[in-house]
Amino acid sequence: MERRVIQVGLLGFGTVGRGVAEIVSRHQNELEHQVGGPISIKSALVKDLQKERGEWNERIQLTADPADVIEDPEIDIIIEVMGGIEETKLLLEKALSHKKHIVTANKDLMAEYGSSLLQQAAEHGCDVYYEASVAGGIPILRTITEGLAADRITKMMGIVNGTTNYILTKMSKEKLAYTDVLKEAQRLGFAESDPTADVEGLDAARKMAILATLGFSAPVQLADVAVKGISGISGVDLEFCEQLGYTMKLIGIAQRDEGRLEVSVEPTLLPSSHPLANVQNEYNAVFVHGEAVGETMFYGPGAGSLPTATAVVSDLVSITKNVKRKVNGFAQHLPLYPATLKTEEEMQSQFFIRLHVEDRTGTFARVTSLFANHDVSFEKLIQLPLENKMLAEVVIITHLTSRAVYKQLINELETMDVIERVASSYRVEGGNA
Ligand code: NAP
Ligand code: HSE
Repeated sequence: MERRVIQVGLLGFGTVGRGVAEIVSRHQNELEHQVGGPISIKSALVKDLQKERGEWNERIQLTADPADVIEDPEIDIIIEVMGGIEETKLLLEKALSHKKHIVTANKDLMAEYGSSLLQQAAEHGCDVYYEASVAGGIPILRTITEGLAADRITKMMGIVNGTTNYILTKMSKEKLAYTDVLKEAQRLGFAESDPTADVEGLDAARKMAILATLGFSAPVQLADVAVKGISGISGVDLEFCEQLGYTMKLIGIAQRDEGRLEVSVEPTLLPSSHPLANVQNEYNAVFVHGEAVGETMFYGPGAGSLPTATAVVSDLVSITKNVKRKVNGFAQHLPLYPATLKTEEEMQSQFFIRLHVEDRTGTFARVTSLFANHDVSFEKLIQLPLENKMLAEVVIITHLTSRAVYKQLINELETMDVIERVASSYRVEGGNA
């Protein structure tokens, strides 16, 4: 590329968009050195032109008309940081038809339409990069597709949502209430515009679908990911975790065993000495296990304006280097394998089960014989009286069993006459099973 200004258009000028503008301005010298010319953000699409925005670089023209950005012949690269799926996909398809390269931080879009957009980009000789869509400031997609390209990845496990990690950290360490901490996560710019996607695990599930697709070279869809969020976790659950030496985290796991895949996101108890148990606040961390390399771990801020913007601007640098080398349109990773999923009989885990039981003779024998009938043994068990003197609380950590057996156990526990209710149950990872 000749030494000319690289013109960028933003779709979105919120938390991440403004972070991008700040990085481009603050690190202009270093960026220019790498890409061979100055980078200029020409315009930014917003929804509400009247919104109070404080100070920003007023050379960036704000517009509410997408055509001003995606059809501008001077703009080389579009950075999509507005969110949304259907409408955004149409805008990006249009941008590709205008031969714009794309950077996006949008996991909702990439989990749903990533392969179609990458295909269209290849047809137009354009790039689509999406590093910021998974784990914010951690360069995990590059790590998987480039750094570990020589290896065969068998497992990826981690914390890939900043909002829920922030909430669980504050609930466990500072005993704060779920709703108050969620509001704080929104104020800090970690949460999605509709935080349901964060707290119900959907945001993390989309990220795990993207990671599994790239890591296993298989087309893993969002529907292939088993999802459970954190909204049902109570302070009592967290206290029992602590008492038993565990920490609760929203953990994504993508595992491959003999070509069969298991991808899930759910609240999980980890031994408190586990490295992931010590990832606090909005930080994310991902373990990647490769057959040859063994265990690797990547850690960093998973959300927030500047960390996310760093990933976005790094993608911009990659695209610009591709332009220089004339290799745009080759960023697509076509899957090598089918996404064949494991059955629930094949998925093995330990489980935490908290029961409210009748506090009378014989109850315990009934509960233990049910577990014995399913060949599930206990690793840990505690019983405490509840305020209602007729009931007791029983907390069990099982040894390894299949998810199918665990589900069957829960069904049977729910219908046992000596059990008032199954108060909660969660996966347990990294124990001594
Ligand atoms: P945000 O603060 O809500 O900003 C969204 C921006 O897009 C705003 O400027 C908004 O305009 C504009 N916008 C939204 N819908 C629009 C529409 N239909 N037409 C025109 N403009 C529209 O969101 P964000 O936190 O920056 O997140 C942006 C994207 O990055 C999302 O895909 C998110 O999942 C992803 N992401 C975010 C983070 C993070 O930490 N925040 C991290 C990684 C990835 P107004 O300013 O007028 O409202
Ligand atoms: N809402 C997301 C999170 C933003 O909390 O992780 C980063 O993708």
